[in-house]
Amino acid sequence: MDEQRFADVDNHFDEVLGGPDPILTAALARSEEAGLPPIAISANIGRFLHVLALARGARRVLEIGTLGGYSTIWLARALPSSGLLVTLEYEPLHADIARQNLDAAGVHDPVEIRVGAALETLQALEDAGVDPFDLVFIDADKEPYTEYLDAAVRLSAPGTLIIADNVVRRGTIADGPSDDPQVTGIQRFNAAVATHPGLRASAVLQVVGVKGYDGLAFAVVDDPEAVRVPSDD
Ligand code: SAH
Ligand code: DHB
Ligand code: MG
Repeated sequence: MDEQRFADVDNHFDEVLGGPDPILTAALARSEEAGLPPIAISANIGRFLHVLALARGARRVLEIGTLGGYSTIWLARALPSSGLLVTLEYEPLHADIARQNLDAAGVHDPVEIRVGAALETLQALEDAGVDPFDLVFIDADKEPYTEYLDAAVRLSAPGTLIIADNVVRRGTIADGPSDDPQVTGIQRFNAAVATHPGLRASAVLQVVGVKGYDGLAFAVVDDPEAVRVPSDD
């Protein structure tokens, strides 16, 4: 079986399960016109995140890595009108395009885009003492994935679902020591997911399809207090 067949079947299920979605098509077109890299999740992974957010009954979602807001639209569509989605993006251009895509998708009300380095915007959320999130999607730069996981757990409640994209990277993560900091970043993340004191359960699924061969990690938070730094007051 070759990669073309995986892509064909991925497209087949996109057609069977949804068919043309002008809003998502326009979001990808606007992103491409603006020169954003073509690295958004696939339609079927978007659909999967949407299903998971609904199954979780998520009201508050945190996303790390917005790009043009494609995954954001899928997640935001699962939220009730009283819900909130906070998405973190380093590049002002990406955030600007995402804003336009979210406005055009009609999901702008409950979506906040915070521009800056995610380690800083995550710290700001912690410092502000925001309510815990129900679902966190990690999909930004790969080297600090472990630090994103730590912050995600601290911003969670028991039962929060943490999902991370790109944890298989064409299988390179299973090849042992690597010179590629993105690969070692993910290897470190996968090890952290396995042993994290704040997590109750974790799983990784390999994914094939229009985006090639990669995978997603899933973890359920047990006790965020296990990793919260005790304060003096
Ligand atoms: N979730 C998106 C794809 C995200 S691509 C989707 O599926 O539609 C990764 C994004 O992370 C890029 O837009 C990149 O600019 C952003 N990024 C990279 N480093 C970052 C950092 N330090 N903080 C926040 N965002 C970052
Ligand atoms: C890259 C980043 C992603 O989040 C992704 O899904 C695919 C590729 C990248 O940086 O190359
Ligand atoms: Mg990704």
